Amino acid sequence: MPLLDALARFNDAHPWSHNAHFHPWLMRQLPRRFDRAVDVGCGSGDLARLLATRARQVHGIDVDERIIDRARESTGPDLPVTFSVADALSYDEGAPYDVITCVAVLHHLPLTETLTRFRQQLAPGGTLVVVGLTREDTRVQTLLGLASVPLNLVTGWVKNRGRTAPRPVAMTAPTRPADVPYTEFAREVRRILPGARLRRRLFWRCTIVWKKVRGDVDPGRL
Ligand SMILES: C[S@@+](CC[C@H](N)C(=O)[O-])C[C@H]1O[C@@H](n2cnc3c(N)ncnc32)[C@H](O)[C@@H]1O
Repeated sequence: MPLLDALARFNDAHPWSHNAHFHPWLMRQLPRRFDRAVDVGCGSGDLARLLATRARQVHGIDVDERIIDRARESTGPDLPVTFSVADALSYDEGAPYDVITCVAVLHHLPLTETLTRFRQQLAPGGTLVVVGLTREDTRVQTLLGLASVPLNLVTGWVKNRGRTAPRPVAMTAPTRPADVPYTEFAREVRRILPGARLRRRLFWRCTIVWKKVRGDVDPGRL
């Protein structure tokens, strides 16, 4: 369709990271200072570096070797951030963590297993923040998606000051479409992370914030 082609061409010429857009919101969900954090599926490391402004130690992990090389290249030696090539379901770098973040990665992973692992790896009193993508299956998502189309154009134009631009490094990380429908996603989030704050958002995203209470049971026994 000519209109859709024109929209796609405009968006390609004025790119901006829908994931980084959530970083300020994400940081507002976290304590002023915390000890250890892990960013799962860290891509080029923008969020890991931001977390390092408040953490004693941040670890970024990603399965993609090339993107971890880029993350390392972009990180000064003065920052308390380390990166490793590792799988979200098998890395073991000294959990528990006070903060776990996971932005635009959960749809690459098996949902139930990953949420269970996050719950196990979070320290009591710790905070998990997820920005996720799901398959659209609710009216609210359809409306938010429609509203996002013009907002996406305006944001791309404003962020690029009206000029065409190359894709930011963060947008070179591997992507894939989401296939779990939101309704199923929400059911699993509520089952595995009781009391989690789950929201559908603009720009085709949803968010989860979960704080682990002290005395939380091991979800392996749920
Ligand atoms: C869309 S990118 C998001 C990157 C980054 N979080 C951001 O917000 O820009 C998804 C990332 O998840 C990583 N990924 C996919 N499967 C993974 C796994 N099993 N373990 C760790 N990282 C994974 C990909 O390599 C990619 O860098």
